[in-house]
Amino acid sequence: MFDREAYNKRVEWYQDARFGMFIHWGLYAILARGEWVRSTEEMPEEEYLPFFDEFDPVDYDPKKWARAAKEAGMKYAVLTAKHHDGFCLFDSKLTDFKATNTKAKRDLVAEYLDAFRAEGIKVGLYYSIIDWHHPDYPHYGDRIHPMRNCEAEKDVERDFNRYLEYMHGQVKELCTQYGKLDVMWFDFSYDNMRGETWRATDLVNMIRSYQPDVIIDNRLEVSGEGFGSLATDNPNVYSGDFVSPEQIIPPQGIKSESGRDLVWEACITMNDNWGYCAKDKNFKPASMIIKKLVECVSKNGNMLLNVGPDAKGNIPEESMQILKEIGRWMSKNGNSIYGCKGSSLPKPENGRITRNGNKLYYHVMENSIGGVPLFGISRDQVKSVRLLADGSELKISDSWMASNYPDVVFVDISSTPYLPDEVDTVVEITLKDAV
Ligand code: GLC
Repeated sequence: MFDREAYNKRVEWYQDARFGMFIHWGLYAILARGEWVRSTEEMPEEEYLPFFDEFDPVDYDPKKWARAAKEAGMKYAVLTAKHHDGFCLFDSKLTDFKATNTKAKRDLVAEYLDAFRAEGIKVGLYYSIIDWHHPDYPHYGDRIHPMRNCEAEKDVERDFNRYLEYMHGQVKELCTQYGKLDVMWFDFSYDNMRGETWRATDLVNMIRSYQPDVIIDNRLEVSGEGFGSLATDNPNVYSGDFVSPEQIIPPQGIKSESGRDLVWEACITMNDNWGYCAKDKNFKPASMIIKKLVECVSKNGNMLLNVGPDAKGNIPEESMQILKEIGRWMSKNGNSIYGCKGSSLPKPENGRITRNGNKLYYHVMENSIGGVPLFGISRDQVKSVRLLADGSELKISDSWMASNYPDVVFVDISSTPYLPDEVDTVVEITLKDAV
């Protein structure tokens, strides 16, 4: 039976954290056309292996990554220990296809974990349950394998159980050789490749025996689509702990069938690729990402924002700039994100609302003429109103122009046409009673 009390306790830190860094990194960074390159170009292994011999991330310094994450206000991180191409950034005893056998000669996962933990950032690992390198993973006729259309692979004998042993063995290595992990992020199920096909009950029971507090995503059961049995009152052992919408923010948050708020995390790229893509300069502005993070929190969700370091181990300059800008806003306004949830008030037309106990964070994203109306709030509920960025008092407006609207609270935020923060000016409203 599902233990809801244990579950609620397990996901507590994660819901408070709200903002994390996703890191997609591997051999594919050399090809610089995204992490699916082998599949999209139906590239045979012998064309991919030369990149294994070449891999030499001379600039890899995870302390730099960790500092960038910390400055951006991120509270947890998830690194691809193995992606679909099967290449392992960690020193697995079960394969030769790993970073320690490249020119890097280092366990890149171990170093990442040390660096992020040292900055006080919770650590997670992404592990692909799909594997395009393992000989026993379905090739011909699979929906996405690079060799899916290769007739020569058709009659090759493969033993899927042997693959499962390998996959379970690697997950065990990750759970036993690297200290406490905070998140395990599996990717992904599709068609009949889901749930018990992965021997998912055994897998999760094994993981929890070594890492009782780890938070697991829901993709042993689903792809990025579908919420899985988490949305029922009695989830499966392998339903995971959170729903993982990808490249979308659920329009109204996500609720269970019986109307409970579900724990979810939107994973979002900064440009249009997860893995490094040299030509993809379609970066979202920091201002948009800040607003989208606020949107996630106002709908009770997290945001996992991706970076795709290049072949040498550098996070692209554009991404570093974006992280810096987000960090500037977060350093002043983090209290409106961490530990916050949505409020029961409807979304106001000039912004969004997040909430932490008796504090309402009114994110003003559009200025007004005269006082700014704080929709949904009445004067007698309010104990104080402050500008979150500097703690200064904001006066409730008593101007004659507002007198026609006695039920609306107006505050004077700015004496110029511009909001103090044009992206999102956060007004902290302390209520007399929690709502
Ligand atoms: C997808 C892709 C993958 C990426 C992941 C992140 O499902 O297969 O490349 O790692 O989404 O959510």
